Amino acid sequence: MSPRQTDELRSHPSPGAGAGATSPVYARISGTGSILPSQRVTNQDLVERLARDGVETSDDWIVERTGIRARHFAQAGETSATLGAEAARRALAAAGLQASDIDLIVCATSTPDMVFPSTACLIQRELGVHGCPAFDVQAVCSGFIYALTVADAMIRGGTARRALVIGAEVFSRLLDYSDRTTCVLFGDGAGAVVLEASAQPGIVASCLHADGRYANILNVPGHLAGGEVTGAPLLRMDGQAVFKLAVSVLDKAAHEVLDAAGRTADTVDWLIPHQANLRIMQGTARKLHLPLDRIIVTVDQHGNTSAASIPLALDVGVRSGQIQRGQSLMLEGVGGGFTWGAVLVDY
Ligand code: UT7
Repeated sequence: MSPRQTDELRSHPSPGAGAGATSPVYARISGTGSILPSQRVTNQDLVERLARDGVETSDDWIVERTGIRARHFAQAGETSATLGAEAARRALAAAGLQASDIDLIVCATSTPDMVFPSTACLIQRELGVHGCPAFDVQAVCSGFIYALTVADAMIRGGTARRALVIGAEVFSRLLDYSDRTTCVLFGDGAGAVVLEASAQPGIVASCLHADGRYANILNVPGHLAGGEVTGAPLLRMDGQAVFKLAVSVLDKAAHEVLDAAGRTADTVDWLIPHQANLRIMQGTARKLHLPLDRIIVTVDQHGNTSAASIPLALDVGVRSGQIQRGQSLMLEGVGGGFTWGAVLVDY
């Protein structure tokens, strides 16, 4: 894409510029960070744990159907807020910034520490700062894509210049360990990025979608009422329905952002999809005609960490040296709601 096309796509008044200035403002990722809880649980650990309650599974089944080999489970004292705050500290250090430099905190989570206040507010407190806006985004496994898009819009609109965008989850606490079709899939963790206003791209294009008619295929229906939990407070999923929908919408979302940017799939250096199932990720890459070695894969070691999975994978890719400055990244999420979306990033 030519610079002219890029400028047309994201041309907004700079928040720091004088009246009438029209220099383009992008939101650029200046640092990434992530953390996994200390307890690593292999498939074999889970096989033994479930067998004690008469639930049968195997390492072979889990690896063959999902690509997952291990995940991390939070321990006492580890929450979405504590994990999210540590991921944020690491992203700040990578960006060379202090928490006090940040003027927006957006946290994507479906496993908040409390009904309220938001996990973003608790993370702000953990970081020892106050005053800047902080709020949660709830879009389950698409949450980080939603949060990044909201923060991008706020930066381009001039209401923030340096944002922390965090995905943090402790899904191990929502799992029904008598349901082998779901409890082997998920893990805990957090990832974060610092997003800064910049004259350089940046987030190039994004799309968000939801279809509430599919609320029943992946949900945690329980809620608080009169001081009690009403309804099942554990995760329920129709795996095959989610699988089919995921493959279809992820392909459409990828093409939507590529079209918006005037680019083709062969310009994408790295596909960083939500890490739910290796087969879904490989199916998406094949549809885009991308070689499988251009997918950042962490699902094998992290399992599905919902809203944390994309920033975790991004940080792993950056710190391993796979992802380099100047490369084009396709971030894609899909999850409960049903929600989905994609963000095209010039890193
Ligand atoms: O993050 C949100 C997005 N979530 C997803 O993307 C998840 C999407 N869905 C999936 O990834 C897959 O559908 C699953 C991994 C959940 C399931 O894989 P599948 O290939 O669709 O398997 P299935 O549900 O068709 O089950 C096949 C068989 C069944 O046995 P029968 O009926 O063929 O005898 C299941 O009972 O596998 C059995 N099974 C298991 N066996 C051993 C299901 N779970 C297990 C298990 N261990 N853990």
